[in-house]
Amino acid sequence: MKIGIMGTGMVGAALGTKLIQIGHEVKMGSRSASNEKAVDWARKNGSRASYGTFADAAAFGELVFNCTAGTVSLAALSSAGSSNLKGKVLVDVANPLDFSKGMPPTLSVCNSDSLGEQIQRALPKVKVVKAFNTMNCKVMVEPSIVPGEHDVFVCGNDVQAKAKVVEIIRSFGWKSIIDLGDITAARGTEMILPIWLRLFGLYQNRPFNFRIARS
Ligand SMILES: NC(=O)c1ccc[n+]([C@@H]2O[C@H](COP(=O)([O-])OP(=O)(O)OC[C@H]3O[C@@H](n4cnc5c(N)ncnc54)[C@H](OP(=O)(O)O)[C@@H]3O)[C@@H](O)[C@H]2O)c1
Repeated sequence: MKIGIMGTGMVGAALGTKLIQIGHEVKMGSRSASNEKAVDWARKNGSRASYGTFADAAAFGELVFNCTAGTVSLAALSSAGSSNLKGKVLVDVANPLDFSKGMPPTLSVCNSDSLGEQIQRALPKVKVVKAFNTMNCKVMVEPSIVPGEHDVFVCGNDVQAKAKVVEIIRSFGWKSIIDLGDITAARGTEMILPIWLRLFGLYQNRPFNFRIARS
């Protein structure tokens, strides 16, 4: 599949690399057409890796990942162009973390709304699926680095879009994928971030993830 990755940070690089490794073609997008990190990532990932602007990545992808900083995701998606995204599945990995007042960050949207919903409202012709935002990017692409069974949450309004994203998630090696329903469930998966940040402080570099104990 041709996949667009919006974002040149560690999440865009980790997902882009994994997608290339399992046979996809990936274009990494940025505010600039030749972002240094995107150029470097493409050079390391061979002929199926390319780079360009956010609009280039959105136009290229049959499916697109949003891996931009959450407080600027709407701006990044707007510069990608709604016509380049129309009808496509957009996997939203971003968290609306506001670092403007220092650490720990706060959520720029929460309780009765979420970034996932804001994106879905801004791009009504796009099928937004929130996924992967509740774990470190190393765990996203290599779930076996956390021992035992653990979970990845997905939510979104379009059932077929979710099925497509679940297929990709399974191809990364995930066994337990919990569908939380429509995109309003992004409120919960984004509001889990304050506890995730505490756990990150506690476990430092040791990979961890959430597991829902159930019968
Ligand atoms: N780090 C993790 O393991 C992890 C795990 C789960 C979820 N997340 C979420 O995933 C997202 C990506 O995280 P990250 O650490 O890889 O990268 P990041 O540093 O949060 O974001 C990098 C991207 O944001 C874009 N950006 C920054 N300012 C912008 C602006 N004013 N307008 C438009 N775009 C702008 C950058 O564009 P340029 O390319 O032009 O510089 C870059 O592509 C975040 O929302 C984060 O909360 C991260």
